Amino acid sequence: EKGGFNSFMEKEIHDQPSAVHDTLLGRLDETGQLTLDELRIDESLLRSVDKIVVIACGTAAYAGHVARYAIEHWCRIPTEVELAHEFRYRDPIVNEKTLVVALSQSGETMDTLMAIRHAREQGAKVIAICNTNGSSIPRESDANLYTHAGPEIAVASTKAFLAQITAAYLLGLYLAQLRGNMYADEIGEVLRELQAMPEKIQTVIDGADAIKAMGTGMGETESVLFLGRHVGFPVALEGALKLKEIAYIHAEGFAAGELKHGPIALIEPGQKVFVIAPSPRGRNSLHSKVVSNIQEIRARGAETIVIAEEGDEAVEAYANHVIRVPQSPTLLQPLLSTVPLQIFACAMAEAKGYDVDQPRNLAKSVTVE
Ligand code: F6R
Repeated sequence: EKGGFNSFMEKEIHDQPSAVHDTLLGRLDETGQLTLDELRIDESLLRSVDKIVVIACGTAAYAGHVARYAIEHWCRIPTEVELAHEFRYRDPIVNEKTLVVALSQSGETMDTLMAIRHAREQGAKVIAICNTNGSSIPRESDANLYTHAGPEIAVASTKAFLAQITAAYLLGLYLAQLRGNMYADEIGEVLRELQAMPEKIQTVIDGADAIKAMGTGMGETESVLFLGRHVGFPVALEGALKLKEIAYIHAEGFAAGELKHGPIALIEPGQKVFVIAPSPRGRNSLHSKVVSNIQEIRARGAETIVIAEEGDEAVEAYANHVIRVPQSPTLLQPLLSTVPLQIFACAMAEAKGYDVDQPRNLAKSVTVE
């Protein structure tokens, strides 16, 4: 049941620390080595892979986009992410050296299933990352890596998204371990950071009241924009999707760098814009680039809501509101920065009096093409 929450969605948002924890569980041996024995896939095959294609739909596809940044960085294998329904119809280049990773919460998404069939017909091996034991997608794939988020009831996906990112990261690290792309201690360091995430996610959830108040206060808002760069970009897309799905308002996510190429024309006084700020401790100029993006939209009158790391003072000057998340390496930040966006969407939809768990026109699993 809903465990005292107003909706399954709210409960599932609160389930996220354990969804991530359980997805990590049992996948490390005593020495801290990753052991994905459950994959039961020929290791030599994984060593010979020269391309990865991630296929999925909706929120699961955004998890795939997040994972791409990590997999390419760790494994140095060219990685594409494609919507399953587009993949199949464009005569994609896949063969025996292609590893297809299919992401699906339900395991019953017909678009994804058809893309898997197509890929296998071309000789590709498919690993499914799925949340539902024994569902069609894992049954039709060559190997499986389950997410252990527990059943997701609300139509809008929350905990499955975090679990998908976690599982895809484990797969990425496993490939890097197998192919010798990373030293054991580097992998161990990422794994330790991953294991610290459930507690950090809990910290974000503990701050839910302030975010909820913001969502409730914006009941009349008709349009919200979301900006992010790097892994923050798919997070922005996910934040926008949550609002469309359950609050029925126009919402759009952009890559922050794309602003000046068009979308900045949308900014008028009072426009609400969420910005996901990357870690200022990162070893590149991402953070300062995002700070100047915030400055640009603020100068045009936008109301800016910035999701930023603890201790990131640089965003203060241009933020109308700051939502703090604990410090984490940039690649892991989506596990934290997505959470306020979910809480916000849920509160806004509730304030508008909508059925958060059963949004209009949507079904939990899309079993038709
Ligand atoms: C969004 C949402 C959908 C699903 C998509 C794929 O909140 O739930 O976009 O993510 O339909 O579903 P699965 O993961 O079951 O294949």
